[in-house]
This record gives sequence, C-alpha cells and structure tokens, in this order.
Amino acid sequence: MPLKAVILIGGPQKGECRGAAGGQGLGPAPLTALPAGTRFRPLSFEVPKPLFPVAGVPMVQHHIEACARVPGMKEILLLGFYQPHEALSRFLVAAQQEFRIPIRYLQEYAALGTAGGIYHFRDQILSGGAEAFFVLNADVCSEFPLQEMLEFGQQHGDAHGFVILGTTANRTQALNYGCIVANADTQEVQHYVEKPSTFVSEVINCGVYLFTPAIFQHIGEVFQRQQQELALEESSNGWQRAEVIRLEQDVFTALAGRGKLYVYKTDGFWSQIKSAGSAIYASRLYLNQYSKTHPERLAQNKPGGPVIRGNVYIHPTASIDSTAVLGPNVSIGEGVTVGAGVRVRESIVLHGAALHDHTCVLNTIVGWDSTIGRWARVEGTPSDPNPNDPYAKIDSESLFRDGRLTPSITILGCSVTIPAEVVILNSIVLPHKELSRSCKNQIIL
Ligand code: GDD
Repeated sequence: MPLKAVILIGGPQKGECRGAAGGQGLGPAPLTALPAGTRFRPLSFEVPKPLFPVAGVPMVQHHIEACARVPGMKEILLLGFYQPHEALSRFLVAAQQEFRIPIRYLQEYAALGTAGGIYHFRDQILSGGAEAFFVLNADVCSEFPLQEMLEFGQQHGDAHGFVILGTTANRTQALNYGCIVANADTQEVQHYVEKPSTFVSEVINCGVYLFTPAIFQHIGEVFQRQQQELALEESSNGWQRAEVIRLEQDVFTALAGRGKLYVYKTDGFWSQIKSAGSAIYASRLYLNQYSKTHPERLAQNKPGGPVIRGNVYIHPTASIDSTAVLGPNVSIGEGVTVGAGVRVRESIVLHGAALHDHTCVLNTIVGWDSTIGRWARVEGTPSDPNPNDPYAKIDSESLFRDGRLTPSITILGCSVTIPAEVVILNSIVLPHKELSRSCKNQIIL
C-alpha cells in the first residue's frame, strides 16, 4: 500500500534559531521566566530544535528511520514554519541518501496549527496515490510502532478509521497531554479531551497518528466553519486565520464517538522532548533501544580505549583519552576531545566541545565548542520521571516554579568557557560566556 509520513516540526520559538533569514544576531534575552516553547534555551540558539542531537543523531532522524522502515513508504515530509535553513537542508540531503527515500521540507507561511499545515499541503501529501499517511510530532521520542499501527488500522474501523498511538500515564501527568477514553473491546475513541483540567483518563495521546485521505474531509469541515464564522467578523485576514486548525481540539474532539477514531496502545517507551532535561532522558531511551536496533552505534570497552559503563554513543571523530570513564547514558558528539581521568555520566556533549583532564560532568548538556578546564566539576540534577511509578512520563516540566529556578540539569550554551577547578551546579550558562568562578542554581546571562 503506498504510504507517506508527515513530521510536524513546528517553528522557531522565542529566542530560537530562526533559520537563514533571521538566525543572526539573536542575543540572550533576560530569563525572568521560561514559558513553554522556550524551554530548550539556550540550546536552540544554534540549531532548530528538531535537529538537536538525541543519542547521537538529530531528534527527527529517529522518526525518519522508523518511517523509512515501513514497507510501501513513498515519501517523508517535514512540515513546519522555520525559514529555509542551511543546517536543515544539509540534514535532508544526507538523510535522503542514507535512507534512499524522498524527504522534503514544506514550509507553512505562518503557524497553521497541527492540522492546518497538513490541510494546506494535502495535495502534496496525497500525490502519488498515498492510501494512508502517518503524522508524527517531532518533539516525542518513541519506538514508533508504525507497522503495528498499520495492522491495527486494517483490523479496526474499516478503511476509513484513523488511529492515534496511545500510552498510559499516571493520573497527574496525564493532565499535560491529550486524554483518551476508549471502548475496552473495540478501542474506539469515545471521548477526547486535550490537556484537561481534571482527570479524564490515564490513556494519553502520543502525538503519532495514522490517517487515510478521508481525514481531510473532517479538517475541511472545520476550515469551512471557521471561514464562515470569520467572514462575519470585519477582518481582512479572515481566510488566513481560518486556516489555523488544531488536530486535537478541533478535529479529534469532534470525531470521538463517531466510529472513526481508534487508539492503538503501546507498551513501548515513549516520552516528550520539550526541555533540555528531557533530551537527556530521551537519549537514555534511544541508547537503550540501540542494543536491539543499532548495536554499531554503542561504544564498546576495547584495549587501549576509555572505560565504557552502560550505553554510550561516541562520534567516530571524537578523541577520548584511554583513562576517561564514560556512561551510562552519555552521547559524545563530533570532534569532541575528552582528556585524561575525565568522568562523564548522564550527559550530552555536543560537537567541538573540549573536556580537559580530570573534569567531571554529570547530568549536563555541554554546548557546541564549549571548554571545561582541568579538575572542574559541572553537575546537574536529573529531571527523570519517578522510577517507582511505571506510568510516570517525563513531565512538561518548567525550569521555574514560583519564580524560582528548580533544580535541573546543568546546561552550557555554545562556546562557553569554564575555568579550571571550579564547580558549576544546577546552572544554565548562556552562549559565549567565560565564567571566572563557581556557581550554583544560577542562570548566567
Ligand atoms: N507544522 C507545524 N505547524 N507544526 C506544529 C505547529 C504548527 O503550527 N504547532 C505545533 N507543531 C508541532 C510541534 O513542533 C510539535 O512537534 C507538535 O506539533 C505538537 O506540538 P504542540 O502543539 O506544542 O502540542 P503539545 O506537544 O503540547 O501536545 C501534543 O503532543 C502531545 C504528545 O507529545 C498534543 O497532541 C497532545 O495531545 C499530546 O499528548
């Protein structure tokens, strides 16, 4: 069956890399609070968030790999409102070659919402006779059981049913997601509520869907209704605003209980990647998966090599001293140098960074081209879900609560210099800073 996939990559958030047109000269803004969408700062200054490396490869490459594995996949479309971006174009060219499948970026003229963009580009999605297509949120990590969703879709709701990938969360965390009440026998979605204020269900929407072309009739109905409503208002851009459509609130809520929407529940790993802290958690999940899917990406203990504990990714161009100890859950990027006696655990070290002799790096993201001086200690607090709660998902956590910085991982933006022998704890250092002293629970502007 001819299939396509659409990955929703969104667009630049405040202070984020805007692409070729607007990416230059964005300086750090005061960090008095970090609302949703800015939680990736200061890392998203450098690359669009979907290209941020998770377990050694760009976040969306995991999606692309999963889509490319599905038999019948004809094309993968990345849909967003980033300006044309050099890094994105380079990534797409490399991914097309690696996965031998057409992969294109389609740019929305404005943020059209999670359904508005796919509606706007419906002809391109269906071109070539696609009989069904997947839609995947870029900011999730998952096993992406796409083949299973396909088989489930064929068994449920005849050829016109739509499938949402669901998982179970605990009662509190479920409130941060789309919540689904389904018929226990048929798995038909009876109620769908996006981020409810009180408990609705422990089954949550994973942001991965399987649609048939019939979905466009339903999105089209919302578009036409919005267009009529807006025509009554005196507004010159009514047509454009009618194109902003949310899959969750505008489409799923209306489709629930009509025999058209089904949930396929997965027991596989799944988490959102909203904040830098959740990128470390997602890296751990993907590194763990590599033992099955990509054992060649996991570093091994070898004579004359560093000590590897648990799952570790090391880019082939990185230079690691044989006395360093790495892992578990460590990703070392391109051209990174790691000196003698260095200890790294639960961290992501981005390309070009240098960890000088005897540094200790724990629960930290070290930004591109940053340098950590000898005997320095850089440490954060993990923001993991509760390990005793099997249904705990990583929360859409905030770095601030009641106006105060909550203990979090430590993040060094790009080209940060940490001098020798200092201690940096639970802090965020914005790009291009040269620190002169130790710091704890601070944001260094
Ligand atoms: N192309 C495009 N255009 N993409 C968009 C737009 C848009 O206007 N708005 C958001 N996205 C992308 C984001 O980049 C992200 O990958 C995805 O769509 C969902 O983003 P949000 O709108 O921020 O929703 P959310 O992450 O808070 O919640 C969604 O995902 C949860 C699972 O992670 C909902 O679908 C929830 O129901 C779901 O539980």
